[in-house]
This record gives sequence, structure tokens and C-alpha cells, in this order.
Amino acid sequence: MKVLVIGNGGREHALVWKLHQSPRVHTLYCAPGNPGIAELAECVPIAANDLNGLLQFAKEQALDLTVVGPEEPLTLGIVDAFQEAGLAVFGPDQQSAQLEGSKAFAKGIMAQVGIPTAAYADFTDLDAARRYVQEQGAPIVIKADGLAAGKGVTVAETVEEAEQALEEAMGQQIFGASGTRVVIEECLRGEEMTVLAFVDGETVRPMVPSQDHKPIFDGDLGPNTGGMGAYSPVPHLEAALPAITETILQPLASGLVQAGRPFRGILYAGLMMTAEGPKVIEFNVRFGDPEAQVILPRLKTDLLEIILATLNGSLATLPIEWHSEASVCVIAAAPGYPGPPTKGLPITLTEGTGEAAQLFHAGTRLQEGQLVTNGGRVFGVTAQGQDLEEARSRAYAAMERVQFKGKQFRQDIAAKALRR
Ligand code: AMP
Ligand code: GLY
Repeated sequence: MKVLVIGNGGREHALVWKLHQSPRVHTLYCAPGNPGIAELAECVPIAANDLNGLLQFAKEQALDLTVVGPEEPLTLGIVDAFQEAGLAVFGPDQQSAQLEGSKAFAKGIMAQVGIPTAAYADFTDLDAARRYVQEQGAPIVIKADGLAAGKGVTVAETVEEAEQALEEAMGQQIFGASGTRVVIEECLRGEEMTVLAFVDGETVRPMVPSQDHKPIFDGDLGPNTGGMGAYSPVPHLEAALPAITETILQPLASGLVQAGRPFRGILYAGLMMTAEGPKVIEFNVRFGDPEAQVILPRLKTDLLEIILATLNGSLATLPIEWHSEASVCVIAAAPGYPGPPTKGLPITLTEGTGEAAQLFHAGTRLQEGQLVTNGGRVFGVTAQGQDLEEARSRAYAAMERVQFKGKQFRQDIAAKALRR
């Protein structure tokens, strides 16, 4: 089959790496891709949000399948456009993608179906939002309603901090139109876990759980990022998986079928494991990044077969197998991240220990033959091992192979599990 992957980050490198292993994939393209992806697929210079360009390419090449990595093309309606043209495409349609594209929409569906989540209210008026924060008190969580690359959320420990976040989102509009509407939430306490699932309408097939590390600094300090590292399994929290499927994933999928808008693709549940049980922090409609980088190496079954089964509605009967090995991904980020990262810094990749690891490229670019930084998250250094300890020490050994000025990475990825 001729397959196109859309996107250019570490998640897409992991997707391409996995699909490249499929005996049924004979030609692999990625748009726009990155220098790491270029070693496995032909990169075509079409941006992930250029729907017309992508559609034209898919028609010209008579592609058998397109796999969408990031949320933006999904929320723009790429799946609807490809389907209208009779092209096979993996991901939810524009309406279902609202689950991620609008936090207010996601909250509405959860309330309707009875899915456990933080209490909330949403506002388009700054004064009304301020009054609500003053009534509720702190801690309290302020979220830009639209997409903000994982940075639109403030967990405010004081009312002043919450008011400042409202002023920035609604007054100064630092997230643009994404922040003119805000969701204000009850602050949940607990440990976080991500559960992804393949969903073909009614059938939900959860993947192995993983845990992301959102804050930039060790000990979960500092501002949130897109994710600084991940690991899988999550031994101290995984016992909750059946309850998560039963109270969250399945009710959502069934509720969407009943509402006449079946979800097809990957459902991402960001969860807080509270004292009262798992509660939803957010839904996304695609693989997580960095979560995909630890999960895909654990997948034993051919990813292509799972995608095809999702598209033709036969997910219920497909055997899906996982490796028992543990997997750890540590992100190497550019200086400045999660603020504006320094681009154009030369990167040196050395040989050495950690040869068994995958160096998934994220924000990299070739500039006159030299690999340079080109985004906040530069590499996802990922390794497997018999257990988390082994996977972790292999990933950190491989981190030494990636050198650039001002490299930032967390030293404590997977520490929460290893402390137990
Ligand atoms: P989100 O972009 O919705 O995933 O939020 C980013 C991060 O903010 C999450 O990973 C949590 O760490 C934190 N967060 C979001 N919502 C809440 C909440 N209601 N209570 C506590 N922390 C939250
Ligand atoms: N790692 C968080 C996300 O992909 O949304």
C-alpha cells in the first residue's frame, strides 16, 4: 500500500517508524516530515494544515491510506475532505474533532453522558469570568477554549494568578481567538495518566497506558510544555484501566454513536487519578506526543492492520498484542522552550552507548547539510528494556548522543513509577 503520514514531529517519526515495519506498506510518504523521517519515508514539502495541497497530492499519487498525526488538520476537516474525494483517511471527522478543538464542547458531551470530570463553567466575558474566580477561590484552573499547543492552561494557586491568566487570555488575547472564550475548572488533585484507544464507532480498544511529564522542570515545576517525556507501562496506576474503559472510554464512544456522530480514530484521554477515581482532564483526537513515542515501540501487532480494521469497523475481532517490555522517552528541548525556542543551533549526533535507542526527530531541520534545531522539542530519545529501570537508563545513556547548545531535558522521567 501507498501510505501518507501527515505531520513533522516526534509522534509522526514514531508513526512512520512503525508503519515502515509493516509488510503491506511498500511506499511511505510524510508531509512535511523532518530529517529523521526522511530516512524512512519520502518527505513532501506540504504543510500539515494545507488541506488543498494534501488532497491534491493524495489524488495525484492515488494513495491507499492517509494517517493524520496532529490535531490541526483534523479540526480543519481534512477527514471530511478526503472522504468526499473517496480517499481512505485515518482520523475523526471535523465534528468529532471538536472533542479536542473546543474544550467547552468536550465538557458538554461529558456532562451529557455522565463522564467523571472537573466541575466547570465557561465564559466569553472577562468581567463575568473574574467574578466567578473570586466566588470560587483558589486553587482553580483557567483554560483557553481553543487550541493552544498544550500551553493554554494555568493551574492557579491564588486568585491573583487566576485573574492574571484571564487578563492574558481574554484581555491581551495572547492565544489569539483560542482564548477569547475560557473554561474555568475545579482543580483536581492526583497523578496523571494517559490512556489512548483505537475506536471504530462502538468498539473501544485501549492501548497500554502511559504517563506524560508536562512541566518543563524536574519535580513537575515550571510552566507546562507539550510534554517533556513519557513512559509505559505505568505499574502503580494501571489497575484502574478496566474502570477507565467502563466509566469513560466506552460511554463516550457509545454516546457519540447514539448522537449520530460515531468517532473513528484515536481517542486520547488525559486523566487525573483522584481519590474518587479517574477523572478526565481532557480528550484529544489523535496520538499523544510524546506518548506515541513510548507506546508504538510496545505495539506488537501491525499498526496498519489496526488502522484498516478501525476504518472498516472490524476492530472488535482483531487480536491486538503488546510487548511486555517497558519503554521510556526523554525529550531534548531547545533553549527558550516552552517560550520561543532558539532555532538554527547546530546538532551533533554521536555514536556510543544507547545504540539500541530510537532518536525520534521532532524540531530538527537540515540547513546546508547541517542538522539544526527547528522547534521547542528537538528530539524524543526513546529506549526499551526489561523493566522501566532498564529502559530509563538506556534512554538517558542515549541522551548523551544528542548534543546542541543549551539542551534542556528532565532528569526525572519515570521517577514517579520507580519511587514505588
Ligand atoms: P490540558 O491542556 O487540558 O491537558 O492541561 C494541561 C495540564 O494542566 C494537565 O496535564 C494538568 O497537569 C493540568 N490541568 C488541567 N486541568 C486541570 C484540572 N482541572 N485540575 C488540575 N490540573 C489540571
Ligand atoms: N502529550 C500531550 C499531548 O499530546 O497532548
